[in-house]
Amino acid sequence: MSTSVCRAAVISDIHYDATPSSVASRKSEYGAILLRKVVYRLATQIQPDVVIVLGDLVDKPAAPDAEEKLRELKSILDMLKLPVIVIPGNHDPDRAVFNRVFGPLPDYVDVNGTRFVCFDDEERPGYNAHRSAADIARMHAARSGFDGRLVALSHVPLFPAGALPSPYHFINDAEVVAALEMDRYTAAIGGHHHPGSGPSEVRGVTYVGAPAVCESPFPFLLATFGDDVSIARHELKLPSTLSVWDTHVHTQFAYCSENMDVRRTLDIAGMMGLAGVCFTEHSLHLYLDKKALSSRDAYARGLENPLCTRTRAEGYFELLDREQVALSSRGLETDIDFNGKLILDSRDRTRVSLLIGSVHEIPEGMKPRTEPVDTARFIDEFMATSKKLCESGIQILAHPLRMFDRKHLPIPESVIPGLVDMMKTNGVAAEINFHTHNPPVSYVRECIRQSVPLAFGSDAHNLYEVGEFSRHIAVVREVGYEGNMEKVLYRFPDAGVV
Ligand SMILES: [Fe+2]
Ligand SMILES: [Fe+2]
Ligand SMILES: [Fe+2]
Repeated sequence: MSTSVCRAAVISDIHYDATPSSVASRKSEYGAILLRKVVYRLATQIQPDVVIVLGDLVDKPAAPDAEEKLRELKSILDMLKLPVIVIPGNHDPDRAVFNRVFGPLPDYVDVNGTRFVCFDDEERPGYNAHRSAADIARMHAARSGFDGRLVALSHVPLFPAGALPSPYHFINDAEVVAALEMDRYTAAIGGHHHPGSGPSEVRGVTYVGAPAVCESPFPFLLATFGDDVSIARHELKLPSTLSVWDTHVHTQFAYCSENMDVRRTLDIAGMMGLAGVCFTEHSLHLYLDKKALSSRDAYARGLENPLCTRTRAEGYFELLDREQVALSSRGLETDIDFNGKLILDSRDRTRVSLLIGSVHEIPEGMKPRTEPVDTARFIDEFMATSKKLCESGIQILAHPLRMFDRKHLPIPESVIPGLVDMMKTNGVAAEINFHTHNPPVSYVRECIRQSVPLAFGSDAHNLYEVGEFSRHIAVVREVGYEGNMEKVLYRFPDAGVV
């Protein structure tokens, strides 16, 4: 009877490359984005004990930038601050290059009573593998003096003939499987065969072929080793039963953009199974240059600011034209200035289908850090600004409570019913937005109670955020909404928008 449980995230076959793969189903040019999405889910929701990557991190082993690509993937994995085990695959560069980035492959890594034994097997024709006598000896050695769970990791899946439907296998599988059984291995996990297969248990050993994350629906696994083995599959793509737009996405015109790009956003939206995406650039980022935007009076003066120009706003619409973005996917994110006016040039209103409104600044929130915030005044200003926004013709109130997080103030539960009522009265949808924010469950519950439709927004400033709605879906489920989720979602585009 085991006492500890070990939860291992298993990611395989990223096939990252600068250019699209010759195999159309492999989204090689999005390898880093897909990995970043997995890492985000692991960090925010799944929280495994260890992360295992089963090879083929890059697509072209001889590409001049293969090492650079490996380093980029490593920097993403390093964000997790967890033990990470990386096994090389047949698409990865020669081992001198691979080891320069990831270090030499360890014999094994122990995590929570589970010993992950690592193998870099010899390749054989037909994309098969062979385990050397020295490595079979290592399989035995890993059992010596160790009574916990043993899990063998390899790029090519290891299994007794017929146990998994993978066409790729070990040419000496009988010998290797005998070693697994003799040493009472709990499991053997491989990648390489992109559809993935298993789990399949044969004589006490669980065999798993991990699917390729580079192919739709972009899956990865969570293997839980406790008294027994369980394998859960996660997919980056949205459930096919859910038709939802991402109604809050930034572009290269946001000063706070990390890597946004309209063309790539549209690709990712398709890959993730979004029904659509709406670009909603910050209006002030379009009317002011960066220096003027950072000045303390940007929100105080709004459109009255003599530094406002049309140059960047015209550039934004030219970009959307160039990328052939439909009118239904054109929007803006606006604010209310400190005089109560919407920061939206009337010339832009008819050029967009969606207007989302945000409270980014209020006078009390702009006090110097040395002065204490008057909480009562802060709440009054926040509510008054939110009300003005709701009355201004916006369709969605974006991240309605984020101001409190930004100013390091607790979100007062008492404001939630009134805020939701404001949206209801004005026919405004309520956004769920996790970008640097954690919307309270009570807020989502109140929106559903008052029948205020929920708009899913990623507020993407980085491409990995586009359509990343796993937390949005989870919070709606958390409030106990078990029906067809579309019934509580904001229907966008509105009828009549094309
Ligand atoms: Fe592969
Ligand atoms: Fe492979
Ligand atoms: Fe935004």
